Amino acid sequence: STDPPVVFHWVPFIGSAIAYGNDPVKFLLDCQQKHGDIFTFVLLGRRMTVALGTKGNNFILGGKSHQLNAEDAYTHLTTPVFGKGVVYDVPNDVFMQQKKFCKVGFSISNLRRYVGMIEDEVHAFLAHDATFGGAPASTDASATAIDDTHGTQWRTFDALRLMQQLTILAASRTLQGAEVRAGLDASYAQLYSDLDEGFTPLNFICPNLPLPSYSRRDRAHRKMSAFYVDIVQRRRRRLLDHENEHEHDMIAALMKQTYRNGRHLEDHEVAHLMIAMLMAGQHTSSSTGSWALIHIANNPQIGEALYQEQVEHFTESYTASPSDGGRRPGLRAMTYEEVKELPLLNAVIRETLRLHPPIHSIIRYVREDVVVPRTLAAPHLHGSGVKRRVDEGDKGDGDGGDAVYVVPKGDYVLASPALSQIDARIWGRSADVWDPYRWIRDDVGDVMKVGDDGGGGDGEEKIDYGFGLVSKGTNSPYQPFGGGMHRCIGEQFAYLQLGVIVATLVRALEMRIERVPEPNYHTMITLPKSPREISFRRRRI
Ligand code: HEM
Repeated sequence: STDPPVVFHWVPFIGSAIAYGNDPVKFLLDCQQKHGDIFTFVLLGRRMTVALGTKGNNFILGGKSHQLNAEDAYTHLTTPVFGKGVVYDVPNDVFMQQKKFCKVGFSISNLRRYVGMIEDEVHAFLAHDATFGGAPASTDASATAIDDTHGTQWRTFDALRLMQQLTILAASRTLQGAEVRAGLDASYAQLYSDLDEGFTPLNFICPNLPLPSYSRRDRAHRKMSAFYVDIVQRRRRRLLDHENEHEHDMIAALMKQTYRNGRHLEDHEVAHLMIAMLMAGQHTSSSTGSWALIHIANNPQIGEALYQEQVEHFTESYTASPSDGGRRPGLRAMTYEEVKELPLLNAVIRETLRLHPPIHSIIRYVREDVVVPRTLAAPHLHGSGVKRRVDEGDKGDGDGGDAVYVVPKGDYVLASPALSQIDARIWGRSADVWDPYRWIRDDVGDVMKVGDDGGGGDGEEKIDYGFGLVSKGTNSPYQPFGGGMHRCIGEQFAYLQLGVIVATLVRALEMRIERVPEPNYHTMITLPKSPREISFRRRRI
């Protein structure tokens, strides 16, 4: 057996950094054309071995932690920002327990509570933000009335900026808790933006340079950590004083958890997990939300259909009152169960994540030599993997039979479900078209079955169209939330948050955009490039 083919590059060390950095999707597609589903490229002195297609996804996402390791790949990036004692700063076994603790914060009873809170935040924002014709909250009681002279005129907002504002409002009102929400109007917003600036791909490449941006990052981390530790300690004191706890947020959930050995989470662990949740959720959700708004605005008939979906499910006899701000009379509040079941709204989010998965590269460090499964490596199978059955033992565990490739210890491996999510052999000729109806028509069913039964194409798996539960297999062609043991725990929350925000905006606004912007890959998360102004006018009441 040999190493996988290496992508040609002119300059040693730098390797393919420029091509990969500028447009990883195009770069990986070009390499796939030349080399097939498995190849190695050089990125600033590191060997990155890429495995593509459903079998590549399976190989990497289904890998074992002692072979294909996440913390070795990510800790330089995340630990300075999240802090010590959590996520990739601890052994995999400890982090897996921490993930379970966080899941408690996403309980259905919590999610049910969150729907109304998120709707409220969006209404309040529209009512008070000048762009939307609102008046600042601080003035007086009349501030909640919407300035009707602007009401039906066309104006513009920046899609990304709006979604960044709404997702931080929504997450802090719900998961992050009352203290963070209160702080958002004051000190916390600055802390958040300082810390956020330290979360850049630069840390992956050179983690500990004496750069001013790094000392700003470290200072921001210390302040943020102290901010959360203070919340935890205040809450503990309240508990000791036998004051009732009414919080139903992530901090409350984490404070009650114990490790398998009986140890409680320490204050700094709660604090650092909260920072991790914040960083994991903010950019992913705001990016997805902004792409969704852009596509809705670019397809006004879908905007209209979404609005009609709201009208159909939520019309009630209702009398407007002055305090209702931007709420459209006649459409009542949503519940968790209802949002979860809206076919078009959920299809819009799912389809947006197919074309614009915020995380384009999922990376692991190779701790020991790993044999590549024969079906992934065999050159004559390149690209046609989806149609073939996965052999027994083909689970990315190194048992590849007469495999032809070995990925050597010291490499990084890179999966990019972004590629299988736009593969025409899987999704058909319209693979690169944003068409949410593909999830409502039957055509996606077959695709997802292929993923579920390991490639047979005739699987029996039922597809759950309730949000976020399409296919959990590590060999699925659709993995915006990853797969296997490192799979995202925020998926349900993200669907709920995005669903409620998008629905509330669609109720209030008609939106238009001429062109869908290009993606910007220079940021950690794939964002829409400027210009990304959406024209809008308020729906007539
Ligand atoms: C893991 C995507 C929202 C918390 C992941 C992974 C992906 C992902 C692809 C796998 C990473 C890997 O395997 O290396 C997304 C997307 C989101 C989203 C597309 C929104 C649209 C959230 C939210 C939270 C969250 C809202 C929490 C509040 C996490 C955590 C992990 C994770 C804790 C586990 C990391 C691990 O086990 O190594 N997410 N995420 N995510 N995500 Fe998300």
